[in-house]
Amino acid sequence: MKILIVYGSTTGNTAGIAEALGERIGAAGHEVTVLNAADASAEGLCDGYDAALFGCSAWGTDEVELQDDFNVLFENFDAIGVSGKKAACFASGDSNFEHFCGAVDVLENRLVGLGAVIVEEGLKVDGDYAGNKDEVDAWCGRVLAAL
Ligand SMILES: Cc1cc2nc3c(=O)[nH]c(=O)nc-3n(C[C@H](O)[C@H](O)[C@H](O)COP(=O)(O)O)c2cc1C
Repeated sequence: MKILIVYGSTTGNTAGIAEALGERIGAAGHEVTVLNAADASAEGLCDGYDAALFGCSAWGTDEVELQDDFNVLFENFDAIGVSGKKAACFASGDSNFEHFCGAVDVLENRLVGLGAVIVEEGLKVDGDYAGNKDEVDAWCGRVLAAL
């Protein structure tokens, strides 16, 4: 399958998870593209892919604000062509915040509204990949099984 991974990351934590997911999914025999939201454009983003994984950290205080680069993409999210495609979301966050990895919930809701098929409950990582390898790898395994 052709899998797209798009992430928005300010300090590199969600980027690290995205890269790890990309390696694992590639090692499982899929063709993977890992794309920084800063380099992506919404129009037809998912065209040619069988599934897409979306990663985005949260930066609000009172309410959830999507990571800056991803937020630009999100403004035109209805153009990404995700209807009928398999999808799942992930993020690095900080559990001291009220809306821990809140961007995951925002993205999932929007994706469902756009007709995507969410194949696995979103991954919410407290910190970076290095400190949460087992959790990330287990989630990746469940996503792979659902593709
Ligand atoms: C002003 C501010 C607001 C934040 N808001 C949230 C939040 O609502 N939920 C959360 O889980 N983490 C929140 N964080 C923590 C970051 O999302 C966290 O450090 C994350 O690992 C950053 O990931 P990134 O490097 O991929 O951007 C916030 C951090 C700051 C400085």
